[in-house]
Amino acid sequence: MEKAPELVWLDNLTPKSTRFDDTYFTRDNGLEETRYVFIEGNRLPQRWRQGEHTVIGELGFGTGLNFLATWQSWLDYQQEANNTNAHPLASPALTFISFEKYPLDKQDLAKALSPWPELKKLSERLLDLWQPASDGWQELHFGAVTLQLYIGDAIDGIKTIPLPIDAWFLDGFNPKTNPDLWSEPLMQALHQASSPHATLASYTAAGWVRRNLQSAGFSIAKRKGFGHKRDMITGTR
Ligand SMILES: C[S@@+](CC[C@H](N)C(=O)[O-])C[C@H]1O[C@@H](n2cnc3c(N)ncnc32)[C@H](O)[C@@H]1O
Repeated sequence: MEKAPELVWLDNLTPKSTRFDDTYFTRDNGLEETRYVFIEGNRLPQRWRQGEHTVIGELGFGTGLNFLATWQSWLDYQQEANNTNAHPLASPALTFISFEKYPLDKQDLAKALSPWPELKKLSERLLDLWQPASDGWQELHFGAVTLQLYIGDAIDGIKTIPLPIDAWFLDGFNPKTNPDLWSEPLMQALHQASSPHATLASYTAAGWVRRNLQSAGFSIAKRKGFGHKRDMITGTR
Protein backbone atom coordinates (compact mmCIF):
# COMPACT_ATOMS: atom_id res chain seq x y z
CA MET A 1 0.00 0.00 0.00
CA GLU A 2 1.20 3.55 -0.77
CA LYS A 3 2.19 5.72 2.18
CA ALA A 4 -0.38 8.22 3.50
CA PRO A 5 -0.20 11.41 1.43
CA GLU A 6 1.79 14.45 2.48
CA LEU A 7 -0.55 17.33 3.10
CA VAL A 8 -0.34 21.05 3.67
CA TRP A 9 -3.31 22.80 5.27
CA LEU A 10 -4.61 26.05 3.78
CA ASP A 11 -6.01 28.34 6.52
CA ASN A 12 -5.44 25.31 8.78
CA LEU A 13 -8.68 23.93 7.26
CA THR A 14 -8.40 22.78 3.65
CA PRO A 15 -6.06 19.86 2.91
CA LYS A 16 -3.83 20.13 -0.14
CA SER A 17 -1.81 17.28 -1.63
CA THR A 18 1.84 18.14 -2.23
CA ARG A 19 2.10 15.27 -4.76
CA PHE A 20 -0.78 16.58 -6.91
CA ASP A 21 -0.50 20.28 -6.01
CA ASP A 22 -4.27 20.53 -5.56
CA THR A 23 -6.79 20.72 -2.72
CA TYR A 24 -9.10 17.83 -1.82
CA PHE A 25 -12.11 20.16 -2.02
CA THR A 26 -12.72 23.80 -2.78
CA ARG A 27 -11.65 26.40 -0.23
CA ASP A 28 -14.95 28.25 -0.76
CA ASN A 29 -17.33 25.62 0.61
CA GLY A 30 -16.45 21.99 -0.10
CA LEU A 31 -19.71 20.61 1.24
CA GLU A 32 -21.91 22.92 -0.86
CA GLU A 33 -19.84 22.13 -3.94
CA THR A 34 -20.30 18.38 -3.37
CA ARG A 35 -24.04 18.84 -3.08
CA TYR A 36 -24.22 20.98 -6.22
CA VAL A 37 -21.81 19.10 -8.48
CA PHE A 38 -22.17 15.45 -7.55
CA ILE A 39 -25.50 14.98 -5.74
CA GLU A 40 -27.62 17.36 -7.84
CA GLY A 41 -25.47 16.75 -10.94
CA ASN A 42 -26.56 13.09 -10.79
CA ARG A 43 -30.18 14.05 -9.78
CA LEU A 44 -29.90 11.69 -6.80
CA PRO A 45 -32.77 13.04 -4.65
CA GLN A 46 -35.15 12.90 -7.64
CA ARG A 47 -34.07 9.33 -8.40
CA TRP A 48 -34.46 8.24 -4.77
CA ARG A 49 -37.97 9.75 -4.77
CA GLN A 50 -38.76 7.48 -7.69
CA GLY A 51 -37.67 4.51 -5.58
CA GLU A 52 -34.41 3.91 -7.44
CA HIS A 53 -31.70 2.04 -5.53
CA THR A 54 -28.69 3.93 -6.83
CA VAL A 55 -25.24 2.39 -6.60
CA ILE A 56 -22.80 5.28 -6.55
CA GLY A 57 -19.23 5.05 -7.87
CA GLU A 58 -16.52 7.55 -7.07
CA LEU A 59 -12.99 8.06 -8.38
CA GLY A 60 -10.94 9.42 -5.46
CA PHE A 61 -12.30 8.80 -1.93
CA GLY A 62 -9.95 11.41 -0.42
CA THR A 63 -11.39 12.77 2.82
CA GLY A 64 -14.74 10.98 2.44
CA LEU A 65 -16.56 14.32 2.22
CA ASN A 66 -18.52 13.23 -0.87
CA PHE A 67 -19.46 9.96 0.78
CA LEU A 68 -20.65 11.63 3.99
CA ALA A 69 -22.55 14.36 2.14
CA THR A 70 -24.32 11.70 0.05
CA TRP A 71 -25.13 9.66 3.15
CA GLN A 72 -26.57 12.79 4.80
CA SER A 73 -28.67 13.65 1.73
CA TRP A 74 -29.98 10.11 1.60
CA LEU A 75 -30.96 10.31 5.32
CA ASP A 76 -32.73 13.64 4.61
CA TYR A 77 -34.55 11.95 1.78
CA GLN A 78 -35.57 9.03 4.04
CA GLN A 79 -36.91 11.52 6.59
CA GLU A 80 -38.91 13.31 3.91
CA ALA A 81 -40.29 9.98 2.66
CA ASN A 82 -41.38 9.07 6.21
CA ASN A 83 -43.02 12.46 6.76
CA THR A 84 -44.98 12.25 3.54
CA ASN A 85 -45.93 8.58 4.02
CA ALA A 86 -44.12 7.75 0.81
CA HIS A 87 -42.10 5.11 2.60
CA PRO A 88 -43.04 2.12 0.43
CA LEU A 89 -41.48 3.99 -2.46
CA ALA A 90 -38.35 4.85 -0.52
CA SER A 91 -34.99 3.68 -1.77
CA PRO A 92 -34.19 1.34 1.13
CA ALA A 93 -30.40 1.20 0.98
CA LEU A 94 -27.40 3.14 -0.23
CA THR A 95 -24.28 1.57 -1.72
CA PHE A 96 -21.24 3.76 -2.31
CA ILE A 97 -18.22 2.31 -4.12
CA SER A 98 -15.01 4.33 -4.17
CA PHE A 99 -11.35 4.04 -5.18
CA GLU A 100 -8.35 5.48 -3.36
CA LYS A 101 -4.65 4.96 -4.07
CA TYR A 102 -3.27 7.13 -1.25
CA PRO A 103 -5.56 6.74 1.80
CA LEU A 104 -5.37 9.44 4.46
CA ASP A 105 -4.39 8.43 7.96
CA LYS A 106 -7.03 8.69 10.68
CA GLN A 107 -5.71 11.93 12.16
CA ASP A 108 -5.73 13.77 8.83
CA LEU A 109 -9.15 12.38 7.95
CA ALA A 110 -10.54 13.68 11.25
CA LYS A 111 -8.99 17.10 10.73
CA ALA A 112 -10.20 17.33 7.12
CA LEU A 113 -13.78 16.56 8.16
CA SER A 114 -13.82 18.82 11.22
CA PRO A 115 -15.15 22.00 9.47
CA TRP A 116 -18.65 20.46 9.04
CA PRO A 117 -20.56 20.08 12.32
CA GLU A 118 -23.64 18.93 10.37
CA LEU A 119 -21.67 15.82 9.31
CA LYS A 120 -20.10 15.20 12.74
CA LYS A 121 -22.15 12.12 13.70
CA LEU A 122 -21.53 10.47 10.35
CA SER A 123 -17.82 11.43 10.32
CA GLU A 124 -17.40 9.79 13.73
CA ARG A 125 -18.94 6.58 12.44
CA LEU A 126 -16.60 6.58 9.44
CA LEU A 127 -13.58 7.31 11.65
CA ASP A 128 -14.53 4.44 13.99
CA LEU A 129 -14.12 1.96 11.15
CA TRP A 130 -11.33 3.72 9.20
CA GLN A 131 -8.42 1.30 8.88
CA PRO A 132 -7.16 1.07 5.29
CA ALA A 133 -4.37 -1.36 6.16
CA SER A 134 -3.81 -3.15 2.84
CA ASP A 135 -4.55 -2.99 -0.87
CA GLY A 136 -7.78 -4.41 -2.27
CA TRP A 137 -11.48 -4.23 -1.49
CA GLN A 138 -12.88 -3.56 1.95
CA GLU A 139 -16.50 -3.25 2.97
CA LEU A 140 -17.68 -0.90 5.73
CA HIS A 141 -21.25 -1.25 7.00
CA PHE A 142 -23.29 1.58 8.51
CA GLY A 143 -26.77 0.06 8.81
CA ALA A 144 -28.51 0.47 5.45
CA VAL A 145 -25.47 2.28 4.06
CA THR A 146 -22.52 0.30 2.71
CA LEU A 147 -19.16 1.69 1.64
CA GLN A 148 -17.11 -0.54 -0.64
CA LEU A 149 -13.64 0.92 -0.85
CA TYR A 150 -10.84 -0.20 -3.15
CA ILE A 151 -7.38 0.72 -1.87
CA GLY A 152 -5.01 0.88 -4.82
CA ASP A 153 -5.01 2.30 -8.34
CA ALA A 154 -8.51 2.81 -9.77
CA ILE A 155 -7.46 1.31 -13.13
CA ASP A 156 -6.75 -1.99 -11.33
CA GLY A 157 -9.72 -1.94 -8.96
CA ILE A 158 -12.31 -1.18 -11.60
CA LYS A 159 -11.67 -4.58 -13.20
CA THR A 160 -13.15 -6.29 -10.13
CA ILE A 161 -15.87 -3.77 -9.27
CA PRO A 162 -18.57 -5.68 -7.34
CA LEU A 163 -21.69 -4.01 -8.83
CA PRO A 164 -22.66 -1.95 -11.89
CA ILE A 165 -22.68 1.78 -11.14
CA ASP A 166 -25.75 4.01 -11.58
CA ALA A 167 -24.16 7.38 -10.75
CA TRP A 168 -20.50 8.34 -11.04
CA PHE A 169 -18.71 11.05 -9.06
CA LEU A 170 -15.56 11.90 -11.06
CA ASP A 171 -13.45 13.63 -8.45
CA GLY A 172 -9.77 13.19 -9.27
CA PHE A 173 -7.42 16.07 -8.63
CA ASN A 174 -6.86 18.64 -11.37
CA PRO A 175 -6.59 16.66 -14.65
CA LYS A 176 -3.27 18.43 -15.38
CA THR A 177 -1.56 17.03 -12.28
CA ASN A 178 -3.58 13.78 -11.94
CA PRO A 179 -4.02 12.63 -15.58
CA ASP A 180 -4.22 8.91 -14.62
CA LEU A 181 -7.61 9.38 -13.01
CA TRP A 182 -9.07 10.89 -16.23
CA SER A 183 -7.35 8.69 -18.83
CA GLU A 184 -9.10 7.20 -21.83
CA PRO A 185 -8.58 3.55 -20.70
CA LEU A 186 -10.06 4.39 -17.29
CA MET A 187 -13.07 6.18 -18.84
CA GLN A 188 -13.64 3.12 -21.04
CA ALA A 189 -13.50 0.84 -18.01
CA LEU A 190 -15.94 3.22 -16.30
CA HIS A 191 -18.37 2.84 -19.19
CA GLN A 192 -18.13 -0.94 -18.99
CA ALA A 193 -18.75 -0.84 -15.24
CA SER A 194 -21.90 1.30 -15.66
CA SER A 195 -25.54 0.22 -15.59
CA PRO A 196 -27.54 0.99 -18.78
CA HIS A 197 -29.08 4.20 -17.35
CA ALA A 198 -25.93 5.42 -15.55
CA THR A 199 -25.18 9.12 -15.12
CA LEU A 200 -22.00 10.97 -14.19
CA ALA A 201 -20.98 14.37 -12.89
CA SER A 202 -17.68 16.20 -12.49
CA TYR A 203 -16.46 19.61 -11.41
CA THR A 204 -14.08 19.82 -14.40
CA ALA A 205 -15.07 20.52 -17.99
CA ALA A 206 -11.51 20.17 -19.40
CA GLY A 207 -11.74 19.48 -23.14
CA TRP A 208 -9.66 16.29 -23.20
CA VAL A 209 -11.58 14.83 -20.24
CA ARG A 210 -14.86 15.42 -22.11
CA ARG A 211 -13.41 13.83 -25.24
CA ASN A 212 -12.20 10.76 -23.31
CA LEU A 213 -15.67 10.33 -21.82
CA GLN A 214 -17.36 10.82 -25.18
CA SER A 215 -15.12 8.35 -26.97
CA ALA A 216 -15.84 5.85 -24.18
CA GLY A 217 -19.56 6.16 -25.02
CA PHE A 218 -20.99 8.81 -22.65
CA SER A 219 -23.10 11.79 -23.77
CA ILE A 220 -21.69 14.86 -22.05
CA ALA A 221 -23.35 18.21 -21.31
CA LYS A 222 -21.81 21.33 -19.80
CA ARG A 223 -23.64 23.27 -17.11
CA LYS A 224 -22.85 26.21 -14.86
CA GLY A 225 -20.13 25.33 -12.36
CA PHE A 226 -20.30 25.85 -8.58
CA GLY A 227 -19.79 29.37 -7.23
CA HIS A 228 -17.45 31.40 -9.40
CA LYS A 229 -16.55 28.41 -11.61
CA ARG A 230 -17.75 28.75 -15.19
CA ASP A 231 -18.48 25.11 -16.11
CA MET A 232 -18.95 21.59 -14.85
CA ILE A 233 -20.15 18.50 -16.71
CA THR A 234 -22.88 15.93 -16.40
CA GLY A 235 -23.25 12.85 -18.56
CA THR A 236 -25.32 9.79 -19.36
CA ARG A 237 -24.37 6.42 -20.68
C1 LIG B 1 -9.79 15.62 -5.26
S1 LIG B 1 -9.32 14.25 -4.28
C2 LIG B 1 -10.87 13.49 -3.92
C3 LIG B 1 -11.70 14.22 -2.90
C4 LIG B 1 -12.76 13.32 -2.31
N1 LIG B 1 -13.75 12.89 -3.25
C5 LIG B 1 -13.39 13.88 -1.06
O1 LIG B 1 -14.63 13.80 -0.91
O2 LIG B 1 -12.61 14.35 -0.21
C6 LIG B 1 -8.68 13.08 -5.44
C7 LIG B 1 -8.33 11.73 -4.83
O3 LIG B 1 -7.93 10.83 -5.85
C8 LIG B 1 -6.90 10.00 -5.35
N2 LIG B 1 -6.19 9.41 -6.50
C9 LIG B 1 -5.33 10.04 -7.34
N3 LIG B 1 -4.89 9.18 -8.31
C10 LIG B 1 -5.51 8.00 -8.07
C11 LIG B 1 -5.51 6.73 -8.74
N4 LIG B 1 -4.76 6.53 -9.83
N5 LIG B 1 -6.29 5.73 -8.25
C12 LIG B 1 -7.06 5.93 -7.14
N6 LIG B 1 -7.09 7.12 -6.46
C13 LIG B 1 -6.34 8.13 -6.92
C14 LIG B 1 -6.08 10.96 -4.53
O4 LIG B 1 -5.24 10.31 -3.62
C15 LIG B 1 -7.17 11.80 -3.86
O5 LIG B 1 -7.55 11.25 -2.63
